[in-house]
Order: sequence, then C-alpha cells, then structure tokens
Amino acid sequence: MNVEELKNSFEKAGQGHVFKYFGELSDAEKSALLSQLEQVDLDELARLDKELVFAENKGGAVDFSKLEPAPYMPLPADKTADAEWQKAKEIGEKAIRDGRLAAFVVAGGQGTRLGFNAPKGLYKVTPVKHKSLFQVFAEKILSASRKYGVRIPWLVMTSHINDAPTRAFFEENGFFGLPKDDVIFFKQGLMPAVDCNGKILLESKSKIAMTPDGHGGCLRGMCRSGAIAELEKRGVDCISYFQVDNPLVNIIDPYFLGFHIMGGSEMSSKMIPKAYELEKVGHFCTLDGKTCVVEYSDLPAEYQKQRDENGKLRFVAGSVAIHILDRNFVEKLGGANTDTKLPFHRADKKIPCLDENGNQTKPEKPNGIKFEMFVFDALPMAKSPVIIEGFRGDEFSPVKNAEGLDSPATCKNHQKQQAARWLAKVGKKLDTDSENVPVFDIEVSPLFASNEEDFVANWNELAAKPEIGNNFYL
Ligand code: UD1
Repeated sequence: MNVEELKNSFEKAGQGHVFKYFGELSDAEKSALLSQLEQVDLDELARLDKELVFAENKGGAVDFSKLEPAPYMPLPADKTADAEWQKAKEIGEKAIRDGRLAAFVVAGGQGTRLGFNAPKGLYKVTPVKHKSLFQVFAEKILSASRKYGVRIPWLVMTSHINDAPTRAFFEENGFFGLPKDDVIFFKQGLMPAVDCNGKILLESKSKIAMTPDGHGGCLRGMCRSGAIAELEKRGVDCISYFQVDNPLVNIIDPYFLGFHIMGGSEMSSKMIPKAYELEKVGHFCTLDGKTCVVEYSDLPAEYQKQRDENGKLRFVAGSVAIHILDRNFVEKLGGANTDTKLPFHRADKKIPCLDENGNQTKPEKPNGIKFEMFVFDALPMAKSPVIIEGFRGDEFSPVKNAEGLDSPATCKNHQKQQAARWLAKVGKKLDTDSENVPVFDIEVSPLFASNEEDFVANWNELAAKPEIGNNFYL
C-alpha cells in the first residue's frame, strides 16, 4: 500500500491523527511508522471500539443465574489402580512415543507483579540449585524425551518486549541440553492501544502505542509464525499448553493426553479444586451447554462461595491454565481465513503517550485501553472439551507476586513438599515444620524424575541410595 492509500484508510476509519507529525519525520522514521501502520487491522479495531469502548454494556454481560459447574473427570485415590486412568495412560504414552505431542509455554507477559526486570522465565525458582523457570521446563521436556525415546518440540511464545533476552538466555545456556532445532520461538501479536474515545494513542511522533494481544493471541501467533506448519511437518497434532509462572506443571502427562484423545476433544483442561472460596483463579463452568472459564474477577463473590447440599463448593473447579490443544483446532481459530475468532477483552491501563501538544506523558492513572484475548475463551468453541482433575501438589504453584500468596517463597515450599512426599513413598520420612514443609532444603531434578511414579521407579533402581540432608539434590 502507498502512503496516500494508507493515509486515506486511516482517515476514513477516524484514525487520521496518526499522521499528524508525519511531515516532521526523517525518512527512516517515516518508513518505521508506515510499516507499523500496515500491521493494523482497521476493521477489527473499529469493531473493538464499537463493542468494548463505546457500547453501554462493554464486552457483554453473563447471566450468572444460568451458570452451572462444568463436569470433570475426578482424580481417583490411586491412579495406578484405576482401569479408566490406566487406559488413558496407555493411550497417552503411545501418542507421546509416536511423536504426536509438543510442549508450549506462553511467556509473553511482563511479570510486573513479581517486580522482576527481565523475562519471567529467567526467574530462579528451585530451592537448592536455583534453576530458572525455563530450565525447569526444559529439563521436564528433556527427561520425557529420553524416557519415551522421541523428540518433543517446545514452542515458546514471547512478546516484542522480551523476545531478544529470552532467546539470548537459551543460547547462553546451551538450550539446557535440548536440541536447538526443537525449541521454536515466536512472538505474539500486537494490538493498537486507544484512548477513551477509541483513538489510537501515539507513543511518539513516529510510533503508535501497541500492546501484546494477550495469551489468547497465541492461536493466531502460532499460525502466522509458521509454528503450526512446523508441527504439522513433524507429525505433531497435540499441544501441551502451560504458563511460564508455574514450575510444578506436569508438562508431558500421558494420563491427560490419553483422556484428551479418548474424548475426541479439540481442547482439554486440567482443573484443581479451589483451595478456598475466593481463590484468584478462573472457574470452569457451563453456560447454555457450552464449557467456559469465568475469571474470579468477573464471577460475583456469592457464586464463588456457593455451596451444594453437601456443603461442597459448587463452583469448585479452578482453572490453572493447563490445556491440551488440538493442532487443527488452533488452525481453525487462529488461521488467516477464519470467521471463528477469540473475543477480545478490554483492560484499562496507564499507557505512556503523547498529549495533544505532542509532549511525552507518563500517566499516573489509566489513560488508555488495551485489547487482549484469553486462550480459555476457545473452550466454548471446542468440540467435546474434556476436563480432568489434577493434584495441586504435583501440578500447580505459580510465582506471581513478590511476597505472600503465589510468591517465590510459597513456590519453594511447595517444591520441597513435593520432594518430601515422593521420598516418603520410598520410605524416607523427612522432618517437617508445623506447616508440613521439610526443615531443610531439598530438590529433585526433573532429569531424575518429573512425577511420582517415575520417582519411585527410578529410586528403586538406584544401586546405592543417597544420604538425605540439607541441600539434598537428586
Ligand atoms: C491466569 C488466568 C487464570 C488462572 C491463573 C492460573 C487469565 C486472565 N487468567 O491469571 O484464569 O486461574 O492464570 O495461574 O489469564 N501472557 C502472555 N502474553 C500476554 C499476557 C500473558 O504470554 O499478552 C502469559 C504470561 O506470560 C503468563 C500467562 O500468560 O505465562 C498468564 O498471564 P497472567 O496475566 O499472569 O495471568 P493471571 O492473571 O495470573
């Protein structure tokens, strides 16, 4: 498109102000701005302005009285003695061995709450060796790849802000032992940020303000970047999705994959029973017969607290953002020629920009709107979604806040408790404090075992059993 055509289309869309300083720019700045503007989907932006900026009922309201708890496959007391779970495991293991599974971490977020000034995946989380989140995930994938004798590609979604330091970290660390070709990075998309009148904000005279399109942007990101085509080439049709903040995640889980395949599901999810009524997680629900996730911030407290006739929390199924996505389903929602798209959500943010006189401002309160997609909004569009229960101690302990709940300290304790639980299974009881946390630091490497069953099997095979003491590392 030439400059005049671009100018006309922005003017027609009521966004002509982005050219306000065009005449003052150098040639390089002009071409940078033009290439940025070419990326903007003006029709999509007009629709978002209409639905999320100007509409009375922004983003549509849910009739909560119609919400039902979503059904799920409960975790049996002993998975290894349950015929259905064993069948799932067998099917899942075969699919892994056949090379049908890829891992996928969404790591495009900024981690502002943690107060860490680098990509979150670089954050050191383990109790003894202080491994980074990325190293923990890499070792889980590597150990599964060795166990099943198969290459497991790993997609890593970054954002324009953290892409370069993320890639550099993997390079510096030799990809943590993974074949470099098996780690596939791609950047998530960007959306223009607008003011409260729906006008695109200018970050500078030669740049519009663009913000990441949310973790739901991964669907189109995977398609646009060619990651999906690469998976197809490798014969992968299932994608194990997880978040960068959760080192306990069981990335390569044959049970979960087996249930996904047996259910003919396009998107499956793990649920963990909520730890308490107002836990800040999404809630698996059904609405008009469709499975969905309703965020804690959207679900009125009375619903979060509701109990059934047995006194059990009615909306008990917490979403821990662990899913399996079918490759064809990703293409159906994220491909170029599709009408089935994820909805956008509005987030009011402080966005540095130019004021009407062309001066830079750093706002102290929200001045702009950013548009984001959430991956769980794909659930209502998925055929036969399957939800299975997971055990919190082996699945979920996110690092979100610098202190308090979901912090590095709580995560470290949960990792130690997991190691102690596994050791107890092989007859090694550790001293614990009043909160049931081992009194000294211990750590089990995913390269030794990344789940309890493997831990027991691998421990039993050790010719000499190690002594356990402070800073024990296996
Ligand atoms: C999220 C879920 C919540 C779930 C909880 C479990 C949302 C809105 N809520 O909450 O339902 O119970 O996790 O821990 O997602 N990310 C990107 N690009 C983006 C934005 C985020 O890649 O543009 C990634 C982050 O790097 C992170 C993940 O998505 O890995 C979650 O993002 P975050 O904003 O921290 O979600 P939460 O609000 O903690």
